[in-house]
Amino acid sequence: MKRAFVTGWPIKHSKSPILHGHWLDHLQIEGSYEAIAVEPEKFSSFMKELPSSGFKGGNVTIPHKEMAYKLVDELDEAAKAIGAVNTIHIENGKLAGSNTDAYGFAANLDSECPAWRSTDTALVLGAGGASRAIIHALKQSGFSKIIIANRTLQRAEDLAVEFGETCRAVPMGDGMHVDASLLKDIGLVVNTTSLGMNDANSDLALKVEQLPNQAIVTDIVYTPLETPLLKAAKSAGLETVDGLGMLLHQAVPGFELWFDKRPKVTPQLRETVLKTL
Ligand code: ATR
Repeated sequence: MKRAFVTGWPIKHSKSPILHGHWLDHLQIEGSYEAIAVEPEKFSSFMKELPSSGFKGGNVTIPHKEMAYKLVDELDEAAKAIGAVNTIHIENGKLAGSNTDAYGFAANLDSECPAWRSTDTALVLGAGGASRAIIHALKQSGFSKIIIANRTLQRAEDLAVEFGETCRAVPMGDGMHVDASLLKDIGLVVNTTSLGMNDANSDLALKVEQLPNQAIVTDIVYTPLETPLLKAAKSAGLETVDGLGMLLHQAVPGFELWFDKRPKVTPQLRETVLKTL
């Protein structure tokens, strides 16, 4: 039996066992996907024991993604650029680390709003770990102007330096406030901050009505599914894409690595995960 895992601390809120379990059932694969809680102090011994554990590989989530990046034997290009590993594949006793978050982000937009590829100017709200994956995806997709807005300007500036000249850092005020003069050329807005998480009614100071009519607005937060940002964007008549699809799509490459079958993101899978939110 092929076995895979997800590890984090805590791990009980992870949706990964539900979605991989759904695929294992539907594809009738004899396999397992187990949630394993590993304390930060024990993570490096967990990684050391992996090659002889019988696992094909697994997912790594908060707070271990950056540590996994340091501990694997090999990194794919996305993991290198993002500085974090969310997917591990064990091959010939070696740990291969990849990062599928940027892929998941792009695949979700490709599926929900393919027009995103016709724009080249993005506003990314936030400058944390999640923001790195989004900026990498945008660069890979050929975006030529990426504005990174963050409460702590220095973090946005550091990211802009690291990701190169297509990026520019600007300050973000309360309620995602960004200087309105920056909004008129934006084709895609992505929220990567935790603002609006578990708070559908939090105040929004971002003037979405100043965005171009064709702008697309997406949020990587999916609790609630309709965040204050998405709600405001919808009311302003803009195209919106929620964050649940990124979670579903980022899981596809890992499943294929461990279980040798490429699974599909279907409305049924989305329903199954949605029911547990
Ligand atoms: P993640 O890996 O999920 O991106 P993170 O590295 O802690 O987590 O980054 C969280 C992001 O959300 C940061 O951009 C953070 O802004 P700061 O760099 O200024 O801390 C942003 N964030 C979190 N809570 C926020 C709040 N109440 N207001 C504004 N930004 C917030």
